Amino acid sequence: MSTVFLNGTYMPVEEAKISPLDRGFLFGDGIYEVIPSYFGQMVGFEGHINRMNDGLKAIGIELNWSENQWHRLCEELSNKNGAGPLGIYLHVSRGADNKRFHAFPKHIEPTVFAMAFEIPIPKQPDLATVGKGYALTSTEDLRWQRCQIKSTALLGNVLHFQQGYEAGSHEVLLYNRQHELTEASASNIFIVKDGVIATSVQDNQILPGITRRLVIDILTEHGALTVEERTITLNEVRNADEIWITSSSKEIAPVTLLDGSPVGDGKVGPVWLKAATLYSKYKFNY
Ligand code: PDD
Repeated sequence: MSTVFLNGTYMPVEEAKISPLDRGFLFGDGIYEVIPSYFGQMVGFEGHINRMNDGLKAIGIELNWSENQWHRLCEELSNKNGAGPLGIYLHVSRGADNKRFHAFPKHIEPTVFAMAFEIPIPKQPDLATVGKGYALTSTEDLRWQRCQIKSTALLGNVLHFQQGYEAGSHEVLLYNRQHELTEASASNIFIVKDGVIATSVQDNQILPGITRRLVIDILTEHGALTVEERTITLNEVRNADEIWITSSSKEIAPVTLLDGSPVGDGKVGPVWLKAATLYSKYKFNY
């Protein structure tokens, strides 16, 4: 039975109750984060908290928690849930009013909820054991125009993810009306062509992924690899030698099938191995 946190109290998940008038429930009016934690050590903690604070500010929720308070909460949750490889989920909604009315109510307290869930034990990257890689379906991005906000209103993402799931894919690669790559329904995307790595520009069409940023910084450190942040056409994606998806729970995952066709030679690529090895070194040495 997992232990969760709700509005200041730790409790078994079965005992956590919120009002049906909570705006998180009624409107998806909230911000969330997922922070990877390996045996008590979090990856990218500061970036996650900064992004959450940016999101709260963007939608006008006032919650003055210090970075230390969040850190203590994450540590407690990890300890109370076995301190293994965990995703720490943080969720702040605008709170519960006494009626359903779209405008922001005044004088209500935000609801703060947090839980931990198991994520796979990280392995050393290895071409022999990585498996076949991910299969992706591509489709036009039909979400809203504020994808930089990590909102709990995820129906747009959920519908895209479901579309891929029903087609037997692991994730869905999204492109805009101009046929330019945005991201995936729950991950960012990188492509590799002739040894050069590229990822979409960080704008309102994508979530500023913490893993994305870490990957760019780690790979370009000491000139190890070149990563371009630029507009990428769907055509380039289809002709890429390698495609990767990144997220806090997947880290850097190689993609070998796109819409049923092999990516490059259809095998997990050598640049992925180099990138995943550098990421893994970073992760275990912080
Ligand atoms: N998803 N883009 C979208 C739309 C996402 O939902 C996520 C993360 C990412 C990757 O961001 P990060 O590297 O900070 O995890 C990109 C989380 C894990 C989720 O919703 O479960």
